[in-house]
Amino acid sequence: MTEPKAAAQTPGHALVTGGAGFIGSHLVDGLLADGWTVTVVDNFDPYYAESTKRLNIAQHLDQRNYRLLQVDLRDAAALHAALDQPFGGADKTGYTVIVHLAAKAGVRNSLLDPLGYQMTNVIGTQNLLTYAYQRKIKQFVFASSSSVYGDCPRLPWSENDLDLLPINPYASTKLAGEHLGYVYSRTFGLRFVGLRFFTVFGERQRPDLAIHKFSRLMLAGKAIPVYGDGSSERDFTYWDEIVSGVRASMAYTGSDYEIFNLGNNRTIGLLDTIRKLEDVLNVKAKIDWQDWQPGEMRRTWANIEKPQRLLGYRVKTDFDTGLRRFAAWLQERLRLEGGKAG
Ligand SMILES: NC(=O)c1ccc[n+]([C@@H]2O[C@H](COP(=O)([O-])OP(=O)(O)OC[C@H]3O[C@@H](n4cnc5c(N)ncnc54)[C@H](O)[C@@H]3O)[C@@H](O)[C@H]2O)c1
Repeated sequence: MTEPKAAAQTPGHALVTGGAGFIGSHLVDGLLADGWTVTVVDNFDPYYAESTKRLNIAQHLDQRNYRLLQVDLRDAAALHAALDQPFGGADKTGYTVIVHLAAKAGVRNSLLDPLGYQMTNVIGTQNLLTYAYQRKIKQFVFASSSSVYGDCPRLPWSENDLDLLPINPYASTKLAGEHLGYVYSRTFGLRFVGLRFFTVFGERQRPDLAIHKFSRLMLAGKAIPVYGDGSSERDFTYWDEIVSGVRASMAYTGSDYEIFNLGNNRTIGLLDTIRKLEDVLNVKAKIDWQDWQPGEMRRTWANIEKPQRLLGYRVKTDFDTGLRRFAAWLQERLRLEGGKAG
């Protein structure tokens, strides 16, 4: 079998939504380093602190090829007007590719605000697809989620499974985004690459996600909430693999619609995760046992044969290494924040 070539794409102008967030800011770091012009759309959604996102992007702001459009995806007129503003000279006004990462993320919060999730994740995605079609931007990469698999019993989860039944509002908005993408590829000529990310971790991880949330509580000497009997498992994926998968998808031309799992193909139990956190943080966890939460997934596990074959996707960073890097980053973040963990 011939190895797919790693994406060596000529730098163009990337439109990155959600570029102030965890994954988006890492992607933008790499794009700017490789000579891309980057326009970021981000409204600094209050799901977590704006100051955290400002720290994520501090190194981008003085770069000549970078601009930040603080605009809300839900407002089609404002979004389209902002995106139409030329940037970087006549040769740089058109976008080569859209990477749509902006979303209301987080399963638990989606149970509290299902309409808010629909508005940003479905209407917002629709507004961006409309813009891509009107401006003839061919390549559209979309951040979907492992959560679309719901309770799918056929593990590890494969993109060939089409009868998916999500079990929380967040997941249903992500599946809706994939379906909208299919419409735009099949009927309007876009190339849509949907990427199902599996629990992403590492430096700058969202503060609501377990590793980050637990670490802060543990360092503050507080108890960590564990739902159910602690037997849930996650296929944790280090951010760098996700960014590599996104970059390969930006250059992908093999078909006009494709869905890929971006995961690790290895699951880790919640209690094991806590034990490993105790090691890297050098602190003992206190556990606050709570009832199982509706809408939560018991296990996520990615089959990654397809992205390996078609995108040249490779897992390079093991969980322990990623966790050590996260812990070192968190210590530095806490110092910048004035030392208060919890
Ligand atoms: N982190 C994970 O484990 C994970 C797993 C699966 C899927 N995803 C998906 O990957 C993407 C990035 O996730 P992340 O963890 O970096 O999240 P994040 O919250 O750090 O980043 C998302 C960004 O989108 C912005 N945003 C939200 N609503 C917006 C709106 N209406 N208009 C403009 N910008 C808006 C936010 O301000 C934020 O900066 C999301 O689509 C998420 O659903 C993430």
